[in-house]
Amino acid sequence: MEAQALHIPDNVQYQELKKFIEASRDVPGPLIQVLHRAQKIFGYLPLEVQHFVARELDLPLSKVFGVVTFYNFFRMDPIGDHIVNLCLGTACHVKGASDIIKVLEKELGVKVGGTTADRFYTLSTARCFGACGLAPVMMLDEEVHGRLNPQKTVKILRDLKAEAQRAAEAINKEEK
Ligand code: FES
Repeated sequence: MEAQALHIPDNVQYQELKKFIEASRDVPGPLIQVLHRAQKIFGYLPLEVQHFVARELDLPLSKVFGVVTFYNFFRMDPIGDHIVNLCLGTACHVKGASDIIKVLEKELGVKVGGTTADRFYTLSTARCFGACGLAPVMMLDEEVHGRLNPQKTVKILRDLKAEAQRAAEAINKEEK
């Protein structure tokens, strides 16, 4: 795979990334740093962005693609508005995290790493949040939810969705 001539949209996200790349040019091996920034700007790293990075850093696209797919903190797919991150560490595993993951996958209709069709939730897993005393634990965005059971887990997800729907309806009403 080689980087090829590409029309880059003239938008602020690409401009911001280009500025960052310009400033990183003299840093040895800037690729990972640039990809981190690109992911921060775009939320994920679609091929179009990888082409751009490859072209700007004068690297083969295969090299950029290889790095993106090697590290699990880089994403090629868009993520949802909310990240559900279930701990699969030892303490949580012992306290039934494997049942919770099944419930999460069923409720959201996606596997770990997936994003719901409405892009509301992305399901992810981690290894210990340092809250083992609350096992099993999940983080919903920045918030820790502990002592989970299947019913409680489903309720947390449905409550957040319902709250978002109410907020969206309120905004719609105001606009009318
Ligand atoms: S093992 Fe789950 S929070 Fe530590």
